[in-house]
Amino acid sequence: MSASDADPLARFVRSVQAAGVQRMPRVDKPAAVAPLGGATLDALAATISACTQCKLSETRTHAVPGEGDPHADIVFVGEGPGADEDKSGRPFVGRAGKLLDDIITKGMKLRRQDVFICNVVKCRPPSNRVPEPDEVAACSPYLAQQLAQIRPKVVCALGATAIRRLIETDEPMGRLRGRVFEAYGFPVIPTYHPAYLLRNPAAKVAVWEDIQKVMELAAKS
Ligand code: URA
Repeated sequence: MSASDADPLARFVRSVQAAGVQRMPRVDKPAAVAPLGGATLDALAATISACTQCKLSETRTHAVPGEGDPHADIVFVGEGPGADEDKSGRPFVGRAGKLLDDIITKGMKLRRQDVFICNVVKCRPPSNRVPEPDEVAACSPYLAQQLAQIRPKVVCALGATAIRRLIETDEPMGRLRGRVFEAYGFPVIPTYHPAYLLRNPAAKVAVWEDIQKVMELAAKS
């Protein structure tokens, strides 16, 4: 029996895909996504690191499960690893990551390790292209499980790929930001991706508004 045969989450993902499911259903209560093998974040990270459920596994150097406080009040969800993240196995460590670090430390007055940072897809799309629908679908249970384990007070979706994965919408980010959505029973605030901010510094004003809303929700008991 291979290691992945023994892994309940890997078995679940295979069975869902074998049944032809392309998208995981949205659920209202986090408890509804909790019990896949009782996976802890560490067990999930090990499963993700060995995952071969989609073609991104063929070109990755390292999978990038995510990192941070397993009990974080705030989870940031990006699109997918870039070259620096693929090399290191850690999320948001390149130029966009430095900007996210500034948002967390200088803006929110938190430490990076106080939040949880992860991505929609856990392996780098070649040439940093946008992840394809089958890749997002294959990775979908991992993000659902991470949120179910962490049970954050608020999720901040960084960019269009993240918010589209979480609430299944085609609306442009300009129409989504400034609003609060819900996924898996958790409040979700969309904002511009840090890589967009690097190209469009004027959008920092909007991002700061969104981040203040994130902090407001995180401060609620
Ligand atoms: N961009 C992302 O969306 N995620 C990362 O981890 C790095 C850059």
